[in-house]
Amino acid sequence: MNILDLIEQRQQENFALHEQYLNPQMVSVLKTIGFDRHYVKAQGAYLFDERGDRYLDLLSGFGVFALGRNHPVIVQALQDVLAAELPNLVQLDASLLSGLLAERLQKITPPGLDRIFFANSGTESVEAAIKFSRCATGRAKIVYCQGGYHGLTLGALSATGDPHFRSGFGPFLPEFVEVPFGDLAALEQALARQDVAAFITEPIQGHGVWIPAADYLPGAAALCRRYGSLLIADEVQTGLGRTGKWWAVEHFGVEPDLLCMAKALSGGLVPIGAVACRPWIFDKVFSRMDRAVVHGSTFGKNNLAMAAGLATLEVLETEGWIDHAAEMGRQLLADLQPLVHQYEYLKAVRGLGMIMALEFGEPKSMALKLPWKMLETANRGLFSQIITVPLLTRHRILSQVAGHGLNVVKFMPPLILTEADRHWIVEAVTDVVADAHRVPGAAWDFGKTLATQAIRNRAGVR
Ligand SMILES: Cc1ncc(COP(=O)(O)O)c(C=O)c1O
Repeated sequence: MNILDLIEQRQQENFALHEQYLNPQMVSVLKTIGFDRHYVKAQGAYLFDERGDRYLDLLSGFGVFALGRNHPVIVQALQDVLAAELPNLVQLDASLLSGLLAERLQKITPPGLDRIFFANSGTESVEAAIKFSRCATGRAKIVYCQGGYHGLTLGALSATGDPHFRSGFGPFLPEFVEVPFGDLAALEQALARQDVAAFITEPIQGHGVWIPAADYLPGAAALCRRYGSLLIADEVQTGLGRTGKWWAVEHFGVEPDLLCMAKALSGGLVPIGAVACRPWIFDKVFSRMDRAVVHGSTFGKNNLAMAAGLATLEVLETEGWIDHAAEMGRQLLADLQPLVHQYEYLKAVRGLGMIMALEFGEPKSMALKLPWKMLETANRGLFSQIITVPLLTRHRILSQVAGHGLNVVKFMPPLILTEADRHWIVEAVTDVVADAHRVPGAAWDFGKTLATQAIRNRAGVR
């Protein structure tokens, strides 16, 4: 089989194949909002369609492409590993590449997290952290935050405080307790009985891009210490430079007991997840020779994932992209925040490094209130589409809505964004936000179509 010939021959069939064999609802979504493009090539921060048009990717595969797509150093490392015909997944062995990646991670993770466990995804790293916390403390309860997101396997979903993702999949693990994000009093109440294994949270909630007050995470860490619970920092999204530091916890001076990572460590090319944790926790789990494989996964530590991780860290460490992300984020915020005072729908622009949100809300003036209400009544959070859709269709910028039912548009660009990209974003956002304030206007014609679709969808009409 020649895979490139196959791609060439059947290039146009992707949506039909998905409609028939995968998830037709996803195809309907893409077609409804005009996101049904034929991307045929990808490089750095850009996607290219069949006509050769270039798109700026502010979604980065939900955050995996910190270094952009098809980074040459990562691609080369993978090609070299394949060409070398290395032994892989011997299992009853100790592979060199996983040792080297663990050694490298230990050097960059917060102090004391000297043991590394490898998995294949973010949700698997969360599962491991939950199991390790229970085993190490001998306690069952896990406290998690409302609005948080930790993955969609059952354990991680039991710790995910988003009703949209939970709907239809219950009952969840009964020992999981939800607290509001940012509320130390509620956290203390949940921990005070000293029966909680761990408090799990994202340092910055990815869904909605909610950044906590400066004293929240240090306060949470102190409460965990006081009541004998472990602190799990889920840095699957915020880790590895995304926020302008290696780890988002560094912004808050917090040292977690377990830290989950995934996404960017893959270089966007080979799935990987990892947990860095304190040695005593690890020793409780893998406590005897007959427990040496008591937790693990067949493909964890596979050579390609390890090579992708090593190459990603090498580039991040040597090319200065984390400082670049911090500075680029500051500039982009400074560029976009003035729009909040100019445009009524835009309530806030917030972010840290290369994770950023534009939050929209109900306007004051009557002329703008009515169309807002029309969309919100049809489907909460629909307004965001008035922004993300023209960003793609008019400006060729790929972005996302930050969470179900939220009027928050989220940007998670690769860390390698250029000055030209920044100008591209600022011009595009200014244009689409201004356009949304022209009532009546093209944006609202589209708004009406969206509202009608949403109502038909709710009524089960396709
Ligand atoms: C904070 C956080 N944790 C866990 C996950 C789950 O990762 P994965 O999709 O690789 O399972 C995600 C994915 O978006 C995430 O953002």
